[in-house]
Amino acid sequence: MAFWKSNHLQPPDVPTTTTLVENNGGRVLNQYERTDIKLARGASVYPCRLRTVDGLGPYNLVVKYVTYGDPAKRARKFPTKGRTASPDPSPSRPATPVRNLYREIAILKACSGRHPSIVTLFEVISDARYKKSLLVMEFLDGGSVQWRDPAEEKPLLLVEQTRRIMRDVVLGLEFLHFHGIIHRDLKPANFVYVADRTHVKLIDFGISHYSASERKAMANKPESPLAPLNDSSLFPESDLRRQFGTAPFMAPEVVWFPGSQPSSSPNSAAVTSASLSAPSSVILPSLSEGQVPPKGPPLTKALDIWSLGVSFFCMLFGRIPFGDETTNRIHLNNIILSEEWVPEWSMGFDQVPTTPLKPIEASSILGLLDGMLQKDPSKRIDLSSIKSHTWMLDGIANPKEWIRVTTPRAYEAGFQGWFQRLQDRV
Ligand SMILES: Nc1ncnc2c1ncn2[C@@H]1O[C@H](COP(=O)(O)OP(=O)(O)O)[C@@H](O)[C@H]1O
Ligand SMILES: [Mg+2]
Repeated sequence: MAFWKSNHLQPPDVPTTTTLVENNGGRVLNQYERTDIKLARGASVYPCRLRTVDGLGPYNLVVKYVTYGDPAKRARKFPTKGRTASPDPSPSRPATPVRNLYREIAILKACSGRHPSIVTLFEVISDARYKKSLLVMEFLDGGSVQWRDPAEEKPLLLVEQTRRIMRDVVLGLEFLHFHGIIHRDLKPANFVYVADRTHVKLIDFGISHYSASERKAMANKPESPLAPLNDSSLFPESDLRRQFGTAPFMAPEVVWFPGSQPSSSPNSAAVTSASLSAPSSVILPSLSEGQVPPKGPPLTKALDIWSLGVSFFCMLFGRIPFGDETTNRIHLNNIILSEEWVPEWSMGFDQVPTTPLKPIEASSILGLLDGMLQKDPSKRIDLSSIKSHTWMLDGIANPKEWIRVTTPRAYEAGFQGWFQRLQDRV
């Protein structure tokens, strides 16, 4: 059977980069044909299919248009207001917009097809005339994780569904962190279900960062075996200091500014009674020209754990823990830095009570959440403790075996078959 006839496309060993030569009315893109249906508001992602001499394949691919020449769009996604303005890239480095694109491609090329929790990239088509690249990826047609009933702020997911999503995301994140990749934009919109909704995959590496020091800490080797990442000009350390990401999901160390003081988080019992009273306004200290701002808390992979915690909270309670969509940016940063989160009386669509009796499951979940939402990154729970947390393992037939066969090392050493079977079973 030709590969395009199957709904389970075989990913290429190395996704290729080609040039756009055919663009018939914008819908025919070389060997692909796309629909006009945008998969999400604001983003240019469309379902597409392969055209060959044998005919048309099913819509099992998407094309994501990434423009690097439109400053207006970039300004929305990459606000320049940061605690330290990054110096202009040196002439030896590609300019920032191009670099952002190259980064997404490098990370996708490095990870594609290597982990079941990470989206597969098939091909990059470059359209230099319009300063665009087209990323052709597998179509995850279950859609992004929806977590809130828009009419009333209520959760949409059962607690058990949240557990399964968390497990998939944790495994994907473990793979990324093992290779020194910090995702930086973890949120439910970037967790996308496969067609039958049995699991989710991580997408959107547009602002991800590869850190050789994180890689060294994880694997005792500074170099990644994933070749596209070793181009250090794409990932300058100074990029980590920029406020990239989605505001309500950003960690305290990301929104930190000179003079701010992240408080340490109390345990979840104290959090229950904490109030979300209006915080005092923030006055950003001004720096005179040439003055070096004080250094903030280190920016490490722990910032992904925070965003994962915010996502976890959203899925459980159907609302954002810090601020809401209307909160202005400076106010929101202050809330993230200093306010505590407050759980609802119940969690999940199934309304599992969180208080006053606090069933065992609720204390377990609130404890886990509390570990992820520690404002001090050095006190935040690490990924291996999240993965082996009793609540995360609940329902897995053989937890020890599951932990062993799902590590990035075991996975790379040829446990893929095992992994898939285990994933299918739980
Ligand atoms: N491979 C895919 N399969 C299905 N939907 C996708 C896929 N990639 C992206 N999407 C949808 O498009 C949205 C935007 O894509 P994303 O890569 O996150 O772009 P952006 O950088 O604009 O956030 C996602 O939230 C998701 O709903
Ligand atoms: Mg996105």
